[in-house]
Amino acid sequence: MQQLELIRALPKAELHVHIEGTFEPELMFAIAQRNQIEIPYKSIDEVKQAYNFHNLQSFLDIYYAGAQVLIHEQDFYDLAWAYFEKCALDRVVHTEMFFDPQTHTDRGVAFETVINGLTRACDDAKQQLNISSHLIMCFLRHLSEAAAFDTLAQALPYKDQIIAIGLDSSELGHPPEKFERVFAKAAEAGFLLVAHAGEEGPADYVWQALDLLKVNRIDHGVRSEEDPALLQRLKAEQMPLTVCPLSNLKLCVVDQMQQHNIQRLLQQGLCVTVNSDDPAYFGGYMNDNFIAITEALDLTDTALKQLAINSFNASFISTADKQKWIAEIESI
Ligand code: HPA
Ligand code: ZN
Repeated sequence: MQQLELIRALPKAELHVHIEGTFEPELMFAIAQRNQIEIPYKSIDEVKQAYNFHNLQSFLDIYYAGAQVLIHEQDFYDLAWAYFEKCALDRVVHTEMFFDPQTHTDRGVAFETVINGLTRACDDAKQQLNISSHLIMCFLRHLSEAAAFDTLAQALPYKDQIIAIGLDSSELGHPPEKFERVFAKAAEAGFLLVAHAGEEGPADYVWQALDLLKVNRIDHGVRSEEDPALLQRLKAEQMPLTVCPLSNLKLCVVDQMQQHNIQRLLQQGLCVTVNSDDPAYFGGYMNDNFIAITEALDLTDTALKQLAINSFNASFISTADKQKWIAEIESI
């Protein structure tokens, strides 16, 4: 089997995707028009030209601006549904999607509007595309601890629709320790926990996410490589890292894909996975990420299969479902 065929054939779980980051310019224009909201671009080409980032913040500014056109439940439904259609094309059979409620509630959109639109899309994806999913609610780390507590309170009535709590947005200057107390409260309420750490921030932020936030997975975590003791810990615990290669390239975390450390981390026995992060902004969905690293790093078929196996092992699905998908991967 050719490697491209293998990538397409492998069942995969996506564990690091921001639903607001799947907002394709075509859909953004359509929703802006129906909601009669002005956006600062005249054409889709102009939008794409603006997607030229030099670090995380330069991306986040544009990402938050794009999300402003989402107002109604149907908008959130359409956003998620378009992403599920991409999953179907890439054989992503399970996805755990982040959403950022504060991006919406801070502009007067009700929490309920966001969660209802997303949940309805998740239900339809299961029924119509046979794709399973979970929602992960993220706190914006550039906002205060108090705002995170308030967001957690708003999520409690929807506890059954949210599997985990995460932490995203501007990493530098907003260390995990800022959210230690609210993560403890989320754990008490029964949520699983994840956090972005070690994307732009130092290895110390990964330690904090492990020891203070007590996360079940690290999102990104690529800068862990700077600390051998941390790598040892991540390996010993098989703590998953949800790595996002095209994101790292577009946000200049690496200068060239040939320099990406995903293969080295995999070879050292860490539980690394491949993910798209914000695919509408970074130039590719799941399979595009697999193809980019395969070409740049000469990944073997065994490595590709291991990455797919890791995606299920690192997911929040049942042990029986993990075994089913891993058996299928091993039979390919
Ligand atoms: N990092 C931090 N926050 C984010 C990202 C990311 O890659 N994407 C969307 N919000
Ligand atoms: Zn992310």
